[in-house]
Amino acid sequence: MDRILIEGGTPLHGTLAISGSKNAVLPLMVASLLTDQPVTLRGTPRLADTRTLASVLRELGAEVEEFGKGPGEGVRVCAGDLSSVRAPYELVSKMRASFWVLGPLLARMHRGEVSLPGGCAIGTRPVDLYLTGLAKMGADIAVEGGYVNAAAPGGLKGARIDLPFVSVGATHVLMMAATLADGKTTITNAATEPEVVDVGRCLMAMGAQIDGLGTRTVHITGVDQLGGADHTVTRDRIEAGAYALAVAASGGSVDLTGITADEFGALLPAMRLAGVSVEENATPTLPTVRVSASPARPKATPITTEPYPGFATDLQAPFMGLMCRADGVSRIRETIFENRFMHVQELVRLGADISLEGDTAIVTGVDELHGAPVMATDLRASVTLVIAGLAARGITTISRVYHLDRGYERIEEKLSACGAKIWREKA
Ligand code: EPZ
Repeated sequence: MDRILIEGGTPLHGTLAISGSKNAVLPLMVASLLTDQPVTLRGTPRLADTRTLASVLRELGAEVEEFGKGPGEGVRVCAGDLSSVRAPYELVSKMRASFWVLGPLLARMHRGEVSLPGGCAIGTRPVDLYLTGLAKMGADIAVEGGYVNAAAPGGLKGARIDLPFVSVGATHVLMMAATLADGKTTITNAATEPEVVDVGRCLMAMGAQIDGLGTRTVHITGVDQLGGADHTVTRDRIEAGAYALAVAASGGSVDLTGITADEFGALLPAMRLAGVSVEENATPTLPTVRVSASPARPKATPITTEPYPGFATDLQAPFMGLMCRADGVSRIRETIFENRFMHVQELVRLGADISLEGDTAIVTGVDELHGAPVMATDLRASVTLVIAGLAARGITTISRVYHLDRGYERIEEKLSACGAKIWREKA
């Protein structure tokens, strides 16, 4: 397995381009199964997760082709004829978003056999909301031998689905399924994450009828068929947040391009409270945000994760990476996933002072972190170790970096270009 090495203590300066959003491109690729016409997705990131999903789509009979390089790159999916409705364990167990193909398969093929999902080990992550919602739309569902076997012989029917709490994945899947259902579907307590809105926009470009996108109540009126689309994927606000936090932790000032300050959402006020400057610095052609670290230690800042527009759970660990060196005590509360503190013990190896009280991590900032060997435990935990490693004195060696490769495109290259001393040791 590859390792990432970081020699910390160098402030970051320069320009760093934000990639297309992982958590938008995955459901967008899944949504392309809803039509027999080509769907072109532009500005997509090249990640281990997109490759895994491409394998799932190919397994079902879709053609998936990557095109272009740099800013012009993208993915074209053509699901003209689907030869299979079975998404196997070997592929679905690698990544939770693969499970989402169940929605389009049921909507278009009226059948699906999809392995129960895997993904980052950040909690139990059940799929009950998806299955209850699809059952409300008329699907017969059985879970057997680790697979969900679902069938809706006459096609899905529109239904009212009251989600008991917000789920990004359930909103994606039920919204996709409803686009081809007979009649109107209403989803209450729907997720409003920008990635959900991006998928909804692409579905509308494909001919779906959706009202209320981006609000807690979404209405979808089913149509007979959807067509192709040419869609540019929204930028990755979670990647941008991680780089902003890396600058804040290492010192220096970096222009993040392709993103606006608004897209930082609840991270923006938290960073400002911590003493970090985040300002628009757009050119006429390129949205740009300039992030400048405070010359003093960051100020201790409490956060609580919540569904959008609240503080994103995917930025909880990276924010903790910054708070490790804060002046004072920060309380960091995780309300979305019950096991998303696995980075704590690794941060402690770097000299951080963190204790856990139920769903809250109490981070007492220390003057200095020190490099050490650490292990990446999940995707966002791994970038947190990069952030802390950049801020630490000495050398940090991160193992199990395949987690990092799932979600951060060319991370060593992007950070090195800003002066970071970070390199990869190939296995
Ligand atoms: C999406 O996961 C993201 N993944 C996650 O990002 C992100 O952390 C999460 O949304 C929350 O924002 C992708 O977009 C590919 P949920 P998802 O359903 O859809 C519970 C990353 O690091 N739940 O909104 O799986 C669930 O256990 C990843 O990029 C049920 O109980 O998250 C959790 O506690 C990790 N039953 C809560 O809902 C269900 O049927 C919210 O999860 C579904 C979910």
